[in-house]
Amino acid sequence: MEEKKKFYITTPLYYTSGKLHIGHSYTTVTADAIARYKRMKGYDVYFLTGSDEHGQKVERKAAERGITPKQFADEKVDEFKALWKLLNISYDGFVRTTDDYHVEAVKKIFRRLYDQGDIYKAKYAGHYCVPCETFFTKHQLINGDCCPDCGRKTELVEEESYFFKASKYAPRLIEHIRNNPEFIQPASRANEMLNNFLLPGLEDICVSRTSFKWGIPVDFDEKHVIYVWIDALSNYITKLGYLSEDESLFNRYWPADIHIVGKEIVRFHTITWPIMLMALGLPLPKQVFGHGWLVLEGGKMSKSKGNVVDPVRLIERYGVDAIRYFLLREVPFGSDGVFSNEALIGRINTDLANDLGNLLSRTVTMIEKYFDGKIPEHTVSASEDEGLFALAASLPGLVDESMDALRIPEALQHIWKLIGACNKYIDVTAPWVLAKSPEDRPRLGTVLYNLAECLRIAATQLTPFLPETAECIFKQLGVSDESLKSLYDVKFGDLPVGGMVFRKEALFPRIDMKKELSELSALMPKEADKNAEAKEKADEELKLPEIQPPIDYEDFMKLDLRLAKVIDCTFVKKSNHLLNLTLEVGNETRTVLSGIKDFYEPADLIGKTVVLVANLKPRKMCGIESQGMVLCASTPGDKELSALTVLSEMPSGIKVR
Ligand code: MSP
Repeated sequence: MEEKKKFYITTPLYYTSGKLHIGHSYTTVTADAIARYKRMKGYDVYFLTGSDEHGQKVERKAAERGITPKQFADEKVDEFKALWKLLNISYDGFVRTTDDYHVEAVKKIFRRLYDQGDIYKAKYAGHYCVPCETFFTKHQLINGDCCPDCGRKTELVEEESYFFKASKYAPRLIEHIRNNPEFIQPASRANEMLNNFLLPGLEDICVSRTSFKWGIPVDFDEKHVIYVWIDALSNYITKLGYLSEDESLFNRYWPADIHIVGKEIVRFHTITWPIMLMALGLPLPKQVFGHGWLVLEGGKMSKSKGNVVDPVRLIERYGVDAIRYFLLREVPFGSDGVFSNEALIGRINTDLANDLGNLLSRTVTMIEKYFDGKIPEHTVSASEDEGLFALAASLPGLVDESMDALRIPEALQHIWKLIGACNKYIDVTAPWVLAKSPEDRPRLGTVLYNLAECLRIAATQLTPFLPETAECIFKQLGVSDESLKSLYDVKFGDLPVGGMVFRKEALFPRIDMKKELSELSALMPKEADKNAEAKEKADEELKLPEIQPPIDYEDFMKLDLRLAKVIDCTFVKKSNHLLNLTLEVGNETRTVLSGIKDFYEPADLIGKTVVLVANLKPRKMCGIESQGMVLCASTPGDKELSALTVLSEMPSGIKVR
């Protein structure tokens, strides 16, 4: 028996530090459509996705929530898997960078590279961007010390680090890129890599950190954790068992046929990764495809702009295949595509509801009405059939060509060309007119057969992209035989005569655009402020609590806030947090305990004016009655705190409102 050809396809491992949005879904749906396509073409496919869990950002975020980084990642991984299930992602493997086999293999890879002299220890001073987990040299920074990728401030880090001799392999990589034009796609990205990074001279890469703990330790020098990109990129081989007891999957699938990645990480996949593989003596992936971004009309998606598009909400509202279709159809593969509610609803209404949905429902309804639901005989051809036959016959070949070139929107356009032609065919042949005269019945049967058969053929080609929709079409046409659903070997006329159709509800109900847009905008958070990016970062780091529900003015007025002068301040015995403040409030003197010892020495406060909640019921702490509360601003988790005061000298006892 001839062995199946293998096909190994991967997505990036998504960071568990954030929430997946429609952009991540775009990458994964794209990879899924390619994987499904190849499976249907008879390839032995392995489709890998997963999660990138180490690094400072996760460590910080977990600490803010008071949980371990692993607990934090576990929650995220559950969310990732739930989203992929909703999107019908047919992955074969899910790799977590915290999985034992991965951790063990990465340690071995690091050691091997060290033992052979490709990794060495040296002093390092560099600018590190925490959100991007990337080091930059001084000349790569923008606006002084900001990250060239995300624009945020970098941190200057000086430490002893391990370095990878990337420079040693650069000439070989340059040659490989030049000799293998298919290696980096689209081709423009290959030029970018050569001109911006490789030809100016590749620097050795810093591959360890000591400033945080949440990572894979260097096993012979445990103070160091392995740089996240060395850790993350290795996943593509560790999941296949590389350097484990069982390397059978590795032997079967490596090298990868294609790594699908966003354009911003092409550099890691076409420089760092191939150089690692060269050093390990392994073959390079056949192709890295750097796709463009899905952007919003107002620019990049960003949390504080309130414009991060949540795929779960969209799927709930419009169904999985509407979203898959939009993602696969709307973004020219390789370039950026724009997401908007209007564009999405437009696609649903035009392509899915009108063109495809109507065609199916008209065809099935007429077969029910005129032939009692039985697929009729096709005995009387006419010249207007020719165009339809030609389109149906050429469709599998055209889809194949587009898929080989990874032009997914073009593949869908070919399918819609047939769908469009069928709708025209209905107008031209006017079956309802044919139905009026009994002598036209054979022709009527042929027309309806042709429509049903074109729909079957369209559905065979649609399966990798919109699996549920294709299955619905087969069901409504009464096609259950798997060989009639096959992607290739498609022959016009294979649809058996006499099969029963089943009319069901519309594939894609039409949406009232105006009403829908106004409902959606009511659901969307309001427009961004100008400092959106900065605010986003602050919000992210602070995880600000939600604003409480509104209260009535009367309720607010029940609070009696007063200015108070600190006339004395002492430590409280037996307490790690409290200070004992003696406050002058007009003519009154109060004792107030406040949990601010970590932030102020008594001397810092004496003589200062603070804001007191003067009508809070007294409360005993450490045996002392506290008569009110001093107002302070504090970050979540009380990392930073500052007592409130007034901008100019004011007498104590007066009201604050
Ligand atoms: N963890 C690294 C990748 C390691 S791979 C060994 C990482 N993770 S990520 O969570 O930031 O995911 C980045 C990927 O998500 C991009 O490369 C791209 O595939 C996808 N996208 C994220 N935002 C996107 C858009 N707005 N549009 C399209 N794809 C986007 O980088």
